[in-house]
Amino acid sequence: MEANDETRHSNVAFDQVNANLPPYSFIYRQLAIPLIPHKPTGNLHMETIRVVKKADMVAPESWLEQKPEEALTLPSRYFFDDKIFHSECDRIFMSAWHVIGHKSELSKPGQFVMTDIFDQSVIAACGADGVVHAFHNVCQHRGNRLVEERRDTQIGVFRCAYHSWCYGLDGNLRHAPRSDRVKGFDAGNCNIPAVRVEEMGGFYYFNLDPDAPSMSELFPGADAEMKRVFPNLDDYRLLEEKDVVVAANWKVIMDNSIEGYHFSLSGPCHVDLADLIDFDGYKLTQRDKWWTYAAPANKLATSAYGDVLRHWAEGDAGGGGGWRSRVGQCRVARVLR
Ligand code: FES
Ligand SMILES: [Fe+2]
Repeated sequence: MEANDETRHSNVAFDQVNANLPPYSFIYRQLAIPLIPHKPTGNLHMETIRVVKKADMVAPESWLEQKPEEALTLPSRYFFDDKIFHSECDRIFMSAWHVIGHKSELSKPGQFVMTDIFDQSVIAACGADGVVHAFHNVCQHRGNRLVEERRDTQIGVFRCAYHSWCYGLDGNLRHAPRSDRVKGFDAGNCNIPAVRVEEMGGFYYFNLDPDAPSMSELFPGADAEMKRVFPNLDDYRLLEEKDVVVAANWKVIMDNSIEGYHFSLSGPCHVDLADLIDFDGYKLTQRDKWWTYAAPANKLATSAYGDVLRHWAEGDAGGGGGWRSRVGQCRVARVLR
């Protein structure tokens, strides 16, 4: 499949999720940060969610009181109640940082990446000066979507396909045909509202909440830690992107991604993956509001997903020694290498 077909496929998948699936479906491309405690302490119920203040959600006291050894699954309504889901959208996703692209996709003037999150759509673009700007994917004339491509390079301005209003790579209005005939037309009032964008660990993230704490405040030390583990993170490039659309509440996905209970027990892909990991060295480290999950490679592994592994020496490619294979490297690194 050609890259463009893949991109189109992704967009189609997104449209389908809007049209056919319940509103709590989740597209795994987004980085979501679960800020509601896994297990409510006391009687956390819908009313409680409504009255939680934004500050509490960033650092809920209940995190400190939780005992993981007593944790159970949330009551079922947290997974299907639309009111809870919409509350989560407003209070979690709309003020969280979401990854939009890697540095390699936003380092040359004109390069842009577009992403949708629920009913919002955001463009991040590299300006002529190399600075990355983010802004809403909405023409300020009649609200048309400016861009449909997931990623591309824009030569010159973004031109709206409806009435040709043109915007710079920073989202500012450059030209509106025949606007000189509109009395009092002020182009300065028609710039596309900016969206906050920050870089961390070689990736760019956006946040729709102008008051949200910066990533460096929320995750102090994370950038250095990512670069310690992956020293060449800035030099990676995108090989492939796939949207995995799951007809499930987003918390099901996040729960799955942070537990290893099912890891060596469910399904062939997990068993294959588990074979590559030295579980004796598996370490989960909590650092204030962020965590790392890390484990050394299983040096005894001879294959990865059926592909023969070639071992490398200690100190090579980031140190530590381990294995390398075309397929294994691609899958473990997911989309980047
Ligand atoms: S909607 Fe974009 S120019 Fe009219
Ligand atoms: Fe899994």
